[in-house]
Amino acid sequence: MSNIAIYPGSFDPCTNGHLDIIARSAPLFDKLYVAVLKNSDKKPLFSVDERIALLGKATAEIDNIEIISFGGLLVNIAEQVGARVIIKGLRAMSDFEYEFQMALANKGLNPNVETLFMTTNTDNSFLSSSLVKEIARNGGKISQFVPEAIEEEIAKKLY
Ligand code: COA
Repeated sequence: MSNIAIYPGSFDPCTNGHLDIIARSAPLFDKLYVAVLKNSDKKPLFSVDERIALLGKATAEIDNIEIISFGGLLVNIAEQVGARVIIKGLRAMSDFEYEFQMALANKGLNPNVETLFMTTNTDNSFLSSSLVKEIARNGGKISQFVPEAIEEEIAKKLY
């Protein structure tokens, strides 16, 4: 049986923090699906297609990942693609309570899918997509927060 995981998120846009989690988790599995949430309550800046394209560029060197989009429940898409593991990144203790609640809810919805938490790299522990957008919108440099390959596209949308 192949060992498949899924890493979900809004990725609006993806940051070095997300990419660190992707780069460190992909080698642990035969295949890693990076799943972009459609229809989030958050009003996204980038369309789903744009978010997928940015992720694709930023992860071009990792060959066992596939970027997909999903709506509805995460456990349903996990089952559809054959993933037995959900990867979530933990940046700080403040993430824990919410992530713990989601992990338990997902376990209740589908006991066959396990949530694995990966700690972020300390450099990215404060990072979020909103922060990157706010810095760029106000003319700040985002080069230390997002991969070089997509920096210009993100900045273009925001400046
Ligand atoms: N590095 C940098 N930033 C990170 C990060 C990391 N490792 N991990 C998370 N973040 C950021 C995200 O960019 C996001 O920033 P933002 O709020 O500025 O957009 C924030 O931290 C929250 O991330 P996360 O908790 O992963 O939320 P999300 O909105 O990106 O994704 C889903 C949430 C998609 C995982 C979740 O809503 C989901 O599973 N939805 C489907 C419906 C469902 O099944 N719900 C659960 C039923 S119990």
